[in-house]
Amino acid sequence: MDNILVTGGAGFIGSHTVVELLNAGYGVVVIDNLVNSSMESLERVKKITGKSVKFYQADLLNMEALQNIFEEENISSVIHFAGLKAVGESCKIPLAYFNNNITGTINLLMAMEKYNVKSLVFSSSATVYGKPESVPISEDFPLSVSNPYGRTKLIIEDMLRDIYKADTSWNIALLRYFNPIGAHESGEIGENPNGIPNNLLPYVSKVAIGELEAVNVFGNDYDTPDGTGVRDYIHVVDLAEGHIKALEKLTSNPGLVTYNLGTGTGYSVLEIIHNFEKACGKKIPYKITERRPGDIDMCYANPEKAKKELGWEAKRDIDKMCEDAWRWQSKYPKGF
Ligand code: NAD
Ligand code: UD1
Repeated sequence: MDNILVTGGAGFIGSHTVVELLNAGYGVVVIDNLVNSSMESLERVKKITGKSVKFYQADLLNMEALQNIFEEENISSVIHFAGLKAVGESCKIPLAYFNNNITGTINLLMAMEKYNVKSLVFSSSATVYGKPESVPISEDFPLSVSNPYGRTKLIIEDMLRDIYKADTSWNIALLRYFNPIGAHESGEIGENPNGIPNNLLPYVSKVAIGELEAVNVFGNDYDTPDGTGVRDYIHVVDLAEGHIKALEKLTSNPGLVTYNLGTGTGYSVLEIIHNFEKACGKKIPYKITERRPGDIDMCYANPEKAKKELGWEAKRDIDKMCEDAWRWQSKYPKGF
């Protein structure tokens, strides 16, 4: 059987995508060095689907280990999630981010080329749009980045565009995620950040469970309806389904394609807090603090291209995102 290689498959988005791949009947091979995840996530995937994956605990920086996988497994396509993703940390240790994310990707691409596997789905981010001139954001908007994490995404996108130009036998889907949140509805897998979360939803969730005191709302003087930042939150299972659609698309030989994966609807920080209160049935204390440097007012997708060309659109609303995130948080307060 042909297998899909999922790099970073033990992580948040990776594990949810592995569930959807297994449910759709694909064979799955995962490579992950577990730097930001636990093997337990793949045990839970097995619990959810009744199917297991072939797991290699290895680093993309280890070329030999990578080649061994292509040697051993019959890989037809790769979904590439593996990477470091903390914006603040990337400003402190940019070189580590460049090495892990960019060198790791170059190794992967070299192994793919060597074994003639030229079908790739890449995890990009809405961060490549920088500070957009207007919303909603379409795929043809100008690209710019303001931190080393974002730079790794843009550099990898640029590399992939060059590789495709030089060899049009590649099929590549660049998926630009907006803000993935939520968890599998079983409550068995979800986001499992180390230490104090940087992102809003996991922070709100930790306040709800009583591990943190109050949400710091980073500024209420933005040019938005209630003054707090507006983002396009998308249920991680909708996102996972988008990857299956992208993989199907690649079999039609489309060349290099780029899609926003978002809902098209923005919610403010306060709206998120209030929705989460509804989901968990508790009051969530918050205080207004300074703006976080580098944050923008509003960011939400124009998701029409993915709808038209992939036949994909997000189906789960903000209530469902908060309910599922809370189910995971309350079932496993300490994560994996
Ligand atoms: P995650 O940290 O949960 O998953 C990434 C996985 O990659 C982890 O399991 C980690 O152990 C693994 N990994 C990292 N470096 C590796 C290496 N060198 N070799 C092998 N494995 C390695 O993060 P996630 O939220 O699931 O994100 C997945 C991808 O999506 C990342 O590339 C991220 O940049 C991108 N993305 C995430 C978001 C988000 O908000 N979560 C938004 C846009 C884009
Ligand atoms: C962050 C990353 C971005 C990445 C995206 C998806 C930064 C600066 N940007 O974007 O590169 O692509 O995640 O993973 O980290 N907020 C609070 N209090 C908090 C946390 C967040 O008020 O404790 C606000 C933020 O100001 C923002 C919104 O909540 O308005 C969402 O923040 P966050 O979850 O960190 O995502 P982004 O900033 O959109």
